Amino acid sequence: MSTKKKTMKIFADPAKFQRWSRERRLAGAKIALVPTMGYLHEGHLSLIAAARRRGADEIAVSIFVNPVQFGPNEDYARYPRDEKADIEKCRAAGATAVFLPTPETMYAPDHSVYVEENDLSLGLCGARRPGHFRGVCTVVAKLFNLAHPDFAVFGRKDYQQAQVIKRMVRDLDFDLKIVVAPIVREKSGLAMSSRNTYLSVDERAAALSISRALREVRPGPAGGVRDRIVRAIEKAGLKTDYVECVDSVTLKPVKRVAKGTAVLVAAYCGKTRLIDNREIV
Ligand code: PAF
Repeated sequence: MSTKKKTMKIFADPAKFQRWSRERRLAGAKIALVPTMGYLHEGHLSLIAAARRRGADEIAVSIFVNPVQFGPNEDYARYPRDEKADIEKCRAAGATAVFLPTPETMYAPDHSVYVEENDLSLGLCGARRPGHFRGVCTVVAKLFNLAHPDFAVFGRKDYQQAQVIKRMVRDLDFDLKIVVAPIVREKSGLAMSSRNTYLSVDERAAALSISRALREVRPGPAGGVRDRIVRAIEKAGLKTDYVECVDSVTLKPVKRVAKGTAVLVAAYCGKTRLIDNREIV
């Protein structure tokens, strides 16, 4: 077997990316898609590694800060970007294609079709970020139609997002599998996120209260679990956006934290909104 590395393809044009994936699929290649917004860190690279482990012949990484999933007062303009470094990281991680579209090539000036999920996306981040999951579903549906992957890999840190996308795939009959890869944490416990770059040294230390509080979660009444987390993160100076104990599949609130519960946290550390979660297994 040849150990020669393939040259990584780089696409900006959606039509060319789609043509490439069509040709590769017709040639029998198993295609994996790793959708990202770039500014890649170890968490993203672990998604590429997961695609490799599952035997993908082609691993396409999309890098696109999707304007449609940001609210008017959110961080779209200042979201960190570093295309050159991202391309090199993808190459080193074994991606075989990178797709780097622009808002103009993804959305026609009169774009008027959006994908809405109307159950799992109503609470949690969906309630605090109106239109967010509509934007996510729309861009992910477009990426699926462009890449036609056999499977797509998402990170568990965006717990609600992964559930919403799975539901979209089921309800709209997308012919692909969703793989959800574990959260990657820094040594300190902080869940990796491109937004961690916004944090000052002090904020980074305070942000650890989230993963620490989640680690300490034990089965018991949900109210108590919630109160303990809120107390711990607010003591560290964070502002709670939400702390919820939900059924890990339906995302509906539960009364008791037990096997099958997901504990989800969103909190502001200074101006930076961080999310993290723990599934009780
Ligand atoms: O998780 C993300 O980075 C984004 O929400 C995604 C899935 C790439 C869609 O823009």
